[in-house]
Amino acid sequence: MLVYLRAAGASLVLDARGAYPVVVHWGRDLDDLNEPSLAALADAAVPAVPSSALDVPLRLSLLPTVAQGWSGRPAISGHRRDEGGSVPDLRLVQVQRSATAAVLDLKTKDGRLRLTTDIELTRQGVLRVRHRLRNEGADDFQLASLDVLLPVPTEASEILDFTGVWAYERRPQRTRVRDGLWSRESRHGRPGHNDAFLMMVGTPGFGFRSGRIWAAHLAWSGDKRSWVERHPLGHTVLGCGELLTPGEMRLAPGEQYATPWAVTAWSDSGIDGLSSRLHAWIRDIAPARRPAPVVLNTWEAVYFDHDADRLDRLVDLAAEVGVERFVLDDGWFTGRRDPRRALGDWYVDQDRWPAGLGPLVDRVHQRGMDFGLWVEPEMVSPDSRLARAHPEWVLGPSDSPTWRWQRVLDLTHPDAYAYVLQRLTALLTEYPIGYLKWDHNRDLLHEGATHRQTKAVYRLLAALRDAFAHLHIESCASGGARIDLGILPLVDRVWASDNNDPLERQRIQRWTSVLVPLEYLGGHLGDTTAHITGRASDLSFRLATALLGNAGVEWDLTRTTPNERADIARWIVRYKQLRHLLHTGTLVRADDDRLGRYLYGVVDAHGDCGVYVLATLAPPESGLPAPLRFPGLEPQRRYTVRPLPLGPPVRTVGEAAPAWLRSGGVTLPGRVLAEVGLPAPLLAPAQAMLYSAEADG
Ligand code: DGJ
Repeated sequence: MLVYLRAAGASLVLDARGAYPVVVHWGRDLDDLNEPSLAALADAAVPAVPSSALDVPLRLSLLPTVAQGWSGRPAISGHRRDEGGSVPDLRLVQVQRSATAAVLDLKTKDGRLRLTTDIELTRQGVLRVRHRLRNEGADDFQLASLDVLLPVPTEASEILDFTGVWAYERRPQRTRVRDGLWSRESRHGRPGHNDAFLMMVGTPGFGFRSGRIWAAHLAWSGDKRSWVERHPLGHTVLGCGELLTPGEMRLAPGEQYATPWAVTAWSDSGIDGLSSRLHAWIRDIAPARRPAPVVLNTWEAVYFDHDADRLDRLVDLAAEVGVERFVLDDGWFTGRRDPRRALGDWYVDQDRWPAGLGPLVDRVHQRGMDFGLWVEPEMVSPDSRLARAHPEWVLGPSDSPTWRWQRVLDLTHPDAYAYVLQRLTALLTEYPIGYLKWDHNRDLLHEGATHRQTKAVYRLLAALRDAFAHLHIESCASGGARIDLGILPLVDRVWASDNNDPLERQRIQRWTSVLVPLEYLGGHLGDTTAHITGRASDLSFRLATALLGNAGVEWDLTRTTPNERADIARWIVRYKQLRHLLHTGTLVRADDDRLGRYLYGVVDAHGDCGVYVLATLAPPESGLPAPLRFPGLEPQRRYTVRPLPLGPPVRTVGEAAPAWLRSGGVTLPGRVLAEVGLPAPLLAPAQAMLYSAEADG
């Protein structure tokens, strides 16, 4: 059978007529193709037979293995006791297809392994693939790896993926595709700060607005790998899958393992084209609970100093500037004075909070805000009542090293799981808590535990969401070490990084939002001098940086001036006005990175309006910087572009602003704004301006 899936300008052609399902095409939609044309295409795609190679053409199947002549990384490996290490030879037995999906059934010759591949091309053009492997033999099957591999054309010769460290997540890195394997592996038990995040491979120099790209992300919060491999014969594959440790996935007779979904997408309009498919799809399947309120988080405001008077003043000022949700961060539970102790003891600290959290929660509510609480349910401090009472609930040997003075709670232990669920349920029942900031501050580093632990976390999150329909959850992991499409459908917000320095934050948010829609992207207005980098920045730059996302404040407002608070209040009003646009529109980014600046924004679904940020990250390349070319507007429609004031005036150099800014705006067609652009203001480094674009009529 031939499978032809089409959606939103993308398509997949699969030749499922032989023993192995072969991807003939993944990329642009090929218009209407009838069955004979599809057959002709599939037949014509059979390659030549080169010298010193198999005597039959090497066609890349969905599960390439050595049995088919593929000497690259195989899509599956594993063994039984009565076999040596082996790569099972799975052959197609049945295909079902619909207009948008296909289900392929494969079996080994001896019938002991059965594999089902689910393929879906969503209406946004996102291609999802996963495998389900079932052991139908009479003895155990030890699965070593099962991955999703897709061929990409030779023109895809440049890779872009990510790395990073704590507070500097999602640093982009580019490399040329060469013969061999570019493989990124995460063994943190969470994706980690250096997560490859989205593995993109495309035409050389692809950018936000141009180039063809094929991209893959594994929707999984545990260990994983993604890679690009080019075989000397010229085949290039894009792959991803869960990273299993030896012995971790033993399938007893009748047991099944389902891979996480590989979420992939193709674009011929650069990274923005990928993001628009991915964001639209995520919004479809996992709409974040909205509207995303403006948060005040106490962490960088007070750290562990949970002094009632200080917090009361913070509550009052938060309400005064228009904050909608007050979040009490780390430090509220029994014995938690610093990060060295008490994780697991999820009872309100009686010394610091003699009357419980009630008075604080009441104050927050009386001032019209919602209350949120920090938790770190998957962890336990060795110095805690919990660890002392239940050492058997702590994962790994007792002498294994701690990380941030903490260990991991074994959530696969039914009693440990029940304890955490009970404690969280009790807190959520006792107090009207609208939001949990769910933290995860260490790598797991326990061989063989990650898969089940990750599943248990998903179960826990899902159970709480089911039980508390109003509850919002944020995924935080020492900042942005757990942001992936496995956890995203279970949460409403992600904490992109602990770094609130706007200069770093611009970069982190730019790249995190390649995958994550803005309504999920937590970003906070921090202190004048950033706590992590020690760098001072202007308020207007910090305000603009925290605006395009799910905005919040993480600053001790009791130390701010009335003028600063007035600016914050006006900024929050602006955020509330723009929130719907920001959280439902299309994210667009000009390719200005090499100019030391970003110009990016959001355009609404009908092309009626847009909002843009210009952020300067470095000194301009020339006295008169290149024009601002506003991407994403309807080419034929006329738009009025105006500056939107945001906080104190920005720092500029030179004698006069460009004419269009002096006159307060200009009206031009979208095509002109994108192709010719408007003269840029002479901003000093580390400044930002906001612009609106409104269509005529
Ligand atoms: C790490 C988080 O990323 C911070 O925002 C803060 O919540 C601390 N943990 C608290 O311990």
